[in-house]
Amino acid sequence: MEQAMTLPADIPTPVFVLDVARLRKNLETAKRVREEAGCKVLLATKAFAMPAAFPVMTDYLDGTTASGEHEAIMGHESFGKEVHVYSPAYTEDEVRRLTKIAEHIYFNSAEQLARFGDIARDAGAHVGLRVNPGYSNATLGGDLYDPCAPGSRFGEVPAKLDEVDWSGVDIFHVHALCESLADGSAGLIQHVADKFGQYIEQVSAVNFGGGHFINKPGYDVDVLIEAIKAFKARFGVDVILEPGAGLVVNTGELYATVLALHWNEMDLAILDASASTHMPDVLEVPYRPDIVGAGQPGEKPNTYRLGGKTCMTGDVIGDYSFHKPLQPGDQLVFTDQMHYSFVKTNTFNGTPLANLAIRWEDGRVEQVSHFGYEEFRRRLGR
Ligand SMILES: Cc1ncc(COP(=O)(O)O)c(C=O)c1O
Repeated sequence: MEQAMTLPADIPTPVFVLDVARLRKNLETAKRVREEAGCKVLLATKAFAMPAAFPVMTDYLDGTTASGEHEAIMGHESFGKEVHVYSPAYTEDEVRRLTKIAEHIYFNSAEQLARFGDIARDAGAHVGLRVNPGYSNATLGGDLYDPCAPGSRFGEVPAKLDEVDWSGVDIFHVHALCESLADGSAGLIQHVADKFGQYIEQVSAVNFGGGHFINKPGYDVDVLIEAIKAFKARFGVDVILEPGAGLVVNTGELYATVLALHWNEMDLAILDASASTHMPDVLEVPYRPDIVGAGQPGEKPNTYRLGGKTCMTGDVIGDYSFHKPLQPGDQLVFTDQMHYSFVKTNTFNGTPLANLAIRWEDGRVEQVSHFGYEEFRRRLGR
C-alpha cells in the first residue's frame, strides 16, 4: 500500500491523487447493486467531479446527477449518459436552459413544480418532485448534514403532498441519508413505502437520493439490494440511487509538504495544504483526516499541530504524532480525500489550488490539472 502511494518527484504538492484500481473496485459494488436490484445508479457530481476519470466510470453507472446548471453541463459534456438535476430553487431561464441538457429535472416544492413543471415537461423532460420524508439517519455532523432536520429547506413537506398535481410528476425523490450504512438505506426505503404509498402509485420511478455509503466497510450491500427488490415488487416502479461519497470513499489521497516548523507552547508545522482552502470539510463537518503513518497526539514520540498558510487562525488540520521529528520538505499523505474535497477548494489568501492527478492501473501517475495564478486572478474580475 505505502509503495503504491509514492508520488513521482515531478508532481508538485499539494495534489489530490485518485487511485483508479480502488475506484474500479468501488464501481463494481455499484454495478452489483444495479444488476442485482435492477435499479439505476447515478454519480452525484457535487461529491466528486473529475472528468478525466469519467471514462472509467461510464460503464458502471447510468449517468450523473447535478446540483444545478454548471454541474449539469459538465455531466452532459464530460460523462454523457443520463443527466439528472435537482436544485432547491431555479429561475425560469435556468429551467429552460436545463431542458436542453438534462432529461430529468427535479423540483424542491409544490410551488416550484407549479411554476416550472410544464416548461420541463413540454420540453420532453421527466419531472421529479423532492419530498422531505421526515426520516433522519445522517451519521455525520448532526443537523448540519441532516436534510430532514427541523426547518430544513429541502423537499416538499408531507402535509402539502395532497395539493400536488401528481399527474405532472414522474419521479418521487427523497434524499435523507449522509454516510449511512445499510440499515439507513433500508430504513429509508421502508419508511417511504410505509408513509407515501398513495403517491408512489402515481409515479413511474422513485429516487432514493444519496448518502448510501455502499463502499464503506460495514455496509451490507445485500440488505440494500433486498430492500430495493421488495420495494420494486410492491410498487412496480423504477428505482434510482444517486450516491456521491459512497462511490469514491477511500479511493484517493491529498499529498502535502511540510514548509516550516514553528513553536508556540507546542510544536507546530505549516503545510502547503490547508484546511481552509483544500479540505474545508475538516472545519465544516468538522473532522480530522488520517495521515499515513501518523498517530493520535502523544501516541508516537513527536506531536505536532498541523496548519495551513492562510491568515485564518482556525486553519488547523489537527494534532498528529510521528515516529521521527518532521523536517521541512517532508511529505504527508492525507487519506480518503476524494469526496467533498477538491470540489470545495478555494483560493483564499491567493493560496494555490491543489492540483488533481490520477494513478492509473499500470501505476503511472498523470497530473490532470495545472492550476496557477490565473485561477486566482480570473475570479477577481478584470
Ligand atoms: C439531492 C442529493 N443527492 C445526492 C447527494 C449525494 O450524497 P452523498 O455524496 O452523501 O452520497 C446529495 C448530497 O448532498 C444530495 O443533496
